[in-house]
Amino acid sequence: MQKNVLITGGTGFIGRYLTKKLLERDYTVSILTRDRRPNTDKVSYYTWDVTAQNIDESAVYNADYIIHLAGENIAEERWTSKRKAAIRDSRIQSAQLIYDTLKKLNKRVDAFVSASGIGYYGAVNGEGICTENTLPADDFVGTVCQDWENAADLMVGLGIRTVKIRTGLVLGKNEGILKKLNPIFKKGLGSALGSGKQYMPWVHVHDLCMMYIEAIENGKMTGPYNATINDSTTNLIFSKELANSYGFSIWLPKVPAFLIQLVLGERATLLLTGRRVSSDKIKKLGFRFQFKNLPKAIKNCIK
Ligand SMILES: NC(=O)c1ccc[n+]([C@@H]2O[C@H](COP(=O)([O-])OP(=O)(O)OC[C@H]3O[C@@H](n4cnc5c(N)ncnc54)[C@H](OP(=O)(O)O)[C@@H]3O)[C@@H](O)[C@H]2O)c1
Repeated sequence: MQKNVLITGGTGFIGRYLTKKLLERDYTVSILTRDRRPNTDKVSYYTWDVTAQNIDESAVYNADYIIHLAGENIAEERWTSKRKAAIRDSRIQSAQLIYDTLKKLNKRVDAFVSASGIGYYGAVNGEGICTENTLPADDFVGTVCQDWENAADLMVGLGIRTVKIRTGLVLGKNEGILKKLNPIFKKGLGSALGSGKQYMPWVHVHDLCMMYIEAIENGKMTGPYNATINDSTTNLIFSKELANSYGFSIWLPKVPAFLIQLVLGERATLLLTGRRVSSDKIKKLGFRFQFKNLPKAIKNCIK
């Protein structure tokens, strides 16, 4: 019988790609969304309201696996205290709602896999390489990631195998960061940000989604796994490669950090800081990344 994967926030960038890959592998997919949508042959939509703690329980009842991607986009709006609360609550209260529903229905799934971010390790610059054992940071994103992972770990108490995917910057066709940068770089107007020396651990959306599928299928996976390519891509290297892919060289000066801070406020840390992050843990399980080379990954995303 076909297994059903419930994806929270499955309508977003990663969720849409993951849905496609799961359907190719003969899973059926259910999606928890805030807006009602018509079902298709293989995808069923269920609604929830995290703030009101309302959920269509049949989504959870029918699931064999749950992948938790839902969360307000951290790059989209200025980080006011209201926005920060929305970023936090949409990830943590939503996991709590899934937990309460599983408990109420006395339902067990074969695995619960939650998104997390490499922001867990902090918005700082440095040369050390972070592994899954590196201590979390106490800044805004670091504490959100910790609380998000702790909420995921509630499922462990129900005897459910739980995996957390600490995700780097995700590259996809006109999605995520590339959606924002493409219009500028396409015109030959791209340049590096701040010092340009900050690391930018990245991962292609294909590899990330294959990691999610590995996480549901591989019973040995448990706990946190970094999803990044282990190279030393800095913002300057990334900017040069993106410009090259459009047939340009970088000719403009770097955008000064203070200007980025002025425009984006605290959110500027997403662009101006970064550390190297190792993915040796998942590789030791035999997982292989298809896109390991930055120029090839970028070309794949902009072709
Ligand atoms: N993309 C990246 O580079 C990256 C990097 C690290 C970590 N991640 C994490 O991976 C997850 C998926 O990322 P993504 O890029 O696919 O994000 P996305 O495109 O912004 O999609 C997130 C989805 O979450 C749902 N959502 C948003 N606010 C919500 C709320 N208040 N309550 C319930 N659901 C809400 C939305 O679904 P509906 O509108 O249908 O409700 C949305 O489609 C996120 O948690 C993100 O933080 C992403």
